[in-house]
Amino acid sequence: MDTTFVPPSRAILTDCVRSAGTAPSLHNSQPWLFRVAPPAIDVFADPARRLPVVDPEGREHLISVGAAVLTLRLAVRHAGYSVRTELRAGDLTSGDAPSLAATVIAGRPRRPDRVTEALAAAIPHRHTNRWPFAQVAVPADAIERLRAAAREEGATLTLAPPAARDAILGLARAADRWLSTRPHHAEEIARWTGRDVRHDGVPEWAAGPWDALEVMPVRDFAGLPRERVPFEPYPTVLVLSTDDDGPQDWLRAGQALQRVLLTATWLGLATTPISQPVEVPFIRAELTRRPAQMVLRVGYGRVAAGTPRRSLNELLIPAET
Ligand SMILES: Cc1cc2nc3c(=O)[nH]c(=O)nc-3n(C[C@H](O)[C@H](O)[C@H](O)COP(=O)(O)O)c2cc1C
Repeated sequence: MDTTFVPPSRAILTDCVRSAGTAPSLHNSQPWLFRVAPPAIDVFADPARRLPVVDPEGREHLISVGAAVLTLRLAVRHAGYSVRTELRAGDLTSGDAPSLAATVIAGRPRRPDRVTEALAAAIPHRHTNRWPFAQVAVPADAIERLRAAAREEGATLTLAPPAARDAILGLARAADRWLSTRPHHAEEIARWTGRDVRHDGVPEWAAGPWDALEVMPVRDFAGLPRERVPFEPYPTVLVLSTDDDGPQDWLRAGQALQRVLLTATWLGLATTPISQPVEVPFIRAELTRRPAQMVLRVGYGRVAAGTPRRSLNELLIPAET
């Protein structure tokens, strides 16, 4: 037995949870809870924060939780420990109680490598950007770095060539129209967006303007009048996909999404997840041969600000005694 191993303190791991809480999530629903029990942190998916109209299967719910898991892994590595992650199998999206989705376990002290340092430094600077991007091509080597980031988490990121890009954006606009006719869609959007957003949800100011060229499928978040400005006419569009399509694949997709987003932030690229086309089954099936998990727009944009987050107290489940 190794008697020299001193696990990270509860305070260090709790600080890592604080970082994990900055992860992106569907409509900023922040559907995660954490239980700190050194050297492990359990990550739970909170069913009270699901969005049943746009995400009836809970796929994006678990993608969001996966994004928090990746952020937590990076934070633990950045704190100077090796890390191991166990994803839980089984049905994680039914029932009323929080489901244990993953356990992140800190190991021996280990200095963070250069990539961990860079991605951890990007965590507080990654924000969804819903403003126009510059009409400048994203260099091929940057796209390759994003693709490698997705691969590292077991997912595939594909650059859409021009014809496919136009088709995907058309499908996304069609998906947006289809979703807006769903029963209770307006109530769900209103619950998670608008002027009264305080600790979760997408505030009105983060919703961005409408695209005057009507190319970009900007989500109708706040349902309030918005400025119309031209977006870049030829956006760079990527599709994130996985081999299979179960709860563990969604957790993996979320980890891949966050690694891609943080890598983009590191490279000075702005990002917008565009999920309407993956929320409509018959449109999702048109995107890729493999299960599509997310459409992403990347480019060079103005600096976006951070959206609200719940306090640490709300995220923590007391450890069992
Ligand atoms: C699964 C998932 C789906 C998302 N879908 C969209 C979308 O369709 N449109 C959009 O503008 N943002 C989308 N986002 C971004 C979230 O709205 C954003 O992460 C959240 O509001 C928190 O803001 P932040 O990313 O700036 O921290 C999505 C994020 C995730 C994780």
